[in-house]
Amino acid sequence: MRAYEIIAGSSSLDGLRRCERPDPVPQPTQLLVRIQAASLNYRDLLIARGHYMGGTVAANTIPLSDGAGEVVAVGSAVTRFRVGDRVAGTFFRGWIDGGPPRGPLIALGAPPADGMLAELVVLDEQNAVAIPAHLSPAGAATLPCAAVTAWRTLVDIGRIAPGESVLVLGTGGVSTFALQFARLAGARVLVTSSSDEKLARAKALGADGCINYRSHPEWDREVLKLTDGRGVDHVLDVGGAGTLARSIGAVAVGGRVGMIGVLTGVGAAGSPYGLLGKQASLHGVYVGSRGHFERMNAAIAVHRLEPVVDREFAFDDALAAYRHLESGAHVGKVVIRL
Ligand SMILES: NC(=O)c1ccc[n+]([C@@H]2O[C@H](COP(=O)([O-])OP(=O)(O)OC[C@H]3O[C@@H](n4cnc5c(N)ncnc54)[C@H](OP(=O)(O)O)[C@@H]3O)[C@@H](O)[C@H]2O)c1
Repeated sequence: MRAYEIIAGSSSLDGLRRCERPDPVPQPTQLLVRIQAASLNYRDLLIARGHYMGGTVAANTIPLSDGAGEVVAVGSAVTRFRVGDRVAGTFFRGWIDGGPPRGPLIALGAPPADGMLAELVVLDEQNAVAIPAHLSPAGAATLPCAAVTAWRTLVDIGRIAPGESVLVLGTGGVSTFALQFARLAGARVLVTSSSDEKLARAKALGADGCINYRSHPEWDREVLKLTDGRGVDHVLDVGGAGTLARSIGAVAVGGRVGMIGVLTGVGAAGSPYGLLGKQASLHGVYVGSRGHFERMNAAIAVHRLEPVVDREFAFDDALAAYRHLESGAHVGKVVIRL
């Protein structure tokens, strides 16, 4: 089968290479899935650049945690799915539901787990979910990482309620899903971005307040202005060290800051003591379980929610898809069709 690999020791996007791999054969509890679309996350740039978790990848690894396709064969003991079903893989292997498992979590697309940028993949049937019927393969392929992270932060951890307010940073994958989910929940959404054009797109998606963080580097103050000095109930901090202190500055009394991303790095992040007087909380989030994914899909299906796909690339143009994500020109998700 045709696939791509991030070669061992890769420290740049030059480490993404086309390859041929033997067709995988499903074991008794596994599904063989013909991948129809895969999507990129910022994590995939970090993996190719050798900046993910422990550093460079130690073995050639098929990249991308996120993909969707059709089941084309099932192992002898499979009960959850049949040939012809449309499925997506879960980000983590083996986290079915409930709180995070104590042991190490293995995520697709980084050693030791091959990912989705291949014509065929095998998934244990426990690590797959049914795709909402209205979604195209491209839409479904955007869900496993960014959407589950946004959903879990707002719904499972945040217990978001109508009338509350949400701040999302930037217009990438996680933030755009958070904007959409917050709207579904009846919340008011503020969006920051580097670009007025992107803010116009966020507005069209339902953003109530828009802040350009280049023209307003003290964007937390703008958030306070837009909320009558109160701050927001939920912040999804995807920025990391360079944004966390302002996210804490922007959160309301009793609010929550989801600590999600590392776009500005993971160095010293300033003082967290702003949380104290506000009695606000800071919660680390690392994607979620199959249960989170399934409950999110139920809501996506009821609301016929369409993920925001910025651009689709052909399989042969996978490197261009990576470069597009790297450019930061996108709003929402970048997809590769197979
Ligand atoms: N913890 C988890 O479970 C989890 C899950 C998914 C992602 N993440 C992390 O979350 C972050 C976002 O991931 P993603 O896949 O959504 O990324 P993405 O789609 O590549 O989004 C990047 C966008 O973020 C915005 N941005 C960049 N620097 C910013 C800054 N300093 N302040 C505010 N916005 C900034 C930019 O949008 P504008 O041009 O509009 O500003 C940029 O286009 C990454 O660090 C990723 O590793 C964590």
